[in-house]
Amino acid sequence: MYSASEKETFNSGENLFVFHSSAYFLVCFLVVLYYLQARDRTLELLVDKARVICKTADATRLESELEWDKGIFSVEQLLDWKKEGRDDKIWSAIPVVIAWNSAMRIAHEDGYHFKTPKFNPRNPKNEPTHLEARSIQKIKTEHLEEYYEIDESTNRLHFFLPIYLSQTCLVCHGDPKTSKELWGNDYGLDITGHKMEGWNKGEIHGAFEVIQSLDEFDEELYQDIKVILIKTSFVIVLMSIHWIFDWTIHKTIY
Ligand code: HEC
Repeated sequence: MYSASEKETFNSGENLFVFHSSAYFLVCFLVVLYYLQARDRTLELLVDKARVICKTADATRLESELEWDKGIFSVEQLLDWKKEGRDDKIWSAIPVVIAWNSAMRIAHEDGYHFKTPKFNPRNPKNEPTHLEARSIQKIKTEHLEEYYEIDESTNRLHFFLPIYLSQTCLVCHGDPKTSKELWGNDYGLDITGHKMEGWNKGEIHGAFEVIQSLDEFDEELYQDIKVILIKTSFVIVLMSIHWIFDWTIHKTIY
């Protein structure tokens, strides 16, 4: 059996323990909530940014298509450049190359990677990784307007915007049988010497992709959480000291 004062000591000790654990539990709960909300907000911001970059690249591609429509770029023009040995000019008429160049111009300063992954690409650098192949497949089968995913193994966000084929694209990527009529060769090659793939208007071929690391944002979040934990622990300890102090005075008086 406890005496009255022993009971008080026990109860106060027990109260202190209950107070401590519930305060820490509450703090941990709030920190986890804060972490989840902050990460969601960061992700939303990064997805918005990636979307803007991809859409800007797509708008650049559309702009270059308009130049084809207006006749600024044309099959005849490209053949003339070929005769003059101006392959650089030919490359500057390729919509995806123009879009890629514009997105890459600010990629390094802005800390993201820009890619155009595609199955069986002309440029081996565009060969899709496992994640990219799965994402492009998902966009196609589910008719998605965009798609993003976080690669947990690298802690990077991958955002994809599908690339649609238009009539302009077919002069290089269309039916190889048209190579003679368009580019004057019987081998199904376009003006750049690549095999024409026989693609059709309206099909999805690859995607614009922005890859952004989440490390920097996680580090900031970690620092924020560290500060919150230190501050709240400090307050809890101060409150406990206050509590013990009160209880000691109470015990001495009564
Ligand atoms: C003048 C010829 C030409 C035209 C027109 C053209 N392309 Fe291409 N395209 C190419 C070449 C050449 C490459 C390879 C670029 C490289 O090596 O990086 C390419 C690359 C691509 C790629 C990247 C994947 C890969 O195969 O490496 C995509 C996607 C693509 N083109 C789509 C399009 C679309 C969509 C259009 C129309 C809006 C278009 N192209 C118009 C010549 C052309």
